[in-house]
Amino acid sequence: MNKLLISPSLLSANFGCLKDDLDKINRSEADWLHIDIMDGVFVPNISFGFPVLEYVAKLCNKPLDVHLMIVQPEKFINEVKALGSMMMNVHYETCTHLHRVIQQIKDNGMKAGVTLNPATPVSVLSDVIADLDMVLLMSVNPGFGGQKFIPNTLKKVRQLRQMIEESGSGALIEIDGGVNLETGKRLVEAGADVLVAGSAVFKAPDMIDMIHKMKNL
Ligand code: DX5
Ligand code: ZN
Repeated sequence: MNKLLISPSLLSANFGCLKDDLDKINRSEADWLHIDIMDGVFVPNISFGFPVLEYVAKLCNKPLDVHLMIVQPEKFINEVKALGSMMMNVHYETCTHLHRVIQQIKDNGMKAGVTLNPATPVSVLSDVIADLDMVLLMSVNPGFGGQKFIPNTLKKVRQLRQMIEESGSGALIEIDGGVNLETGKRLVEAGADVLVAGSAVFKAPDMIDMIHKMKNL
């Protein structure tokens, strides 16, 4: 088993001192930076758009793990690519032609991730799992940081791990929402590969130390 990957979520950063927060991420053991893009349609909130993210991409030296909570995410493949993103995650619930979108992301040189809402079963991915680089399981309803972890996610992690093993897929399992040292430990035991953490990291008294602790769960 490879070492656990940590992807701090930009949504909880202090945008008044963004450079300071990103400097700390750069100096930490964080593996990626998780970026939440919202449209106020698919989710009941709006976060940040591409002009802001161009600065983030310049200031951050970690690979970008982009999570699009928007309808028709395929319209923005070029913009996500232009940021230099490593991973583009689209929601299953927003893609009528999911197979095509996955291929388009990969054709543009990015890794392809598909995200599932808490109410969406992992079984819907059985026919594309072999094509995926990652599955992102939401452990809160998407749209806001600082929400409470939904425990049913642990069962979904175990089901997904079994599906991945049976299919021979190389997909990583990433979890997003309400992740802290306590829920993170349970997720690792269930089979998670990547933990996203927003408030647990950015609201910690010592971000670098919190990331170190998560990394060693
Ligand atoms: C929620 C976002 C998350 C969010 C997680 O819709 O997808 O990435 O930043 O925040 P925490 O870790 O505070 O639950
Ligand atoms: Zn996210």
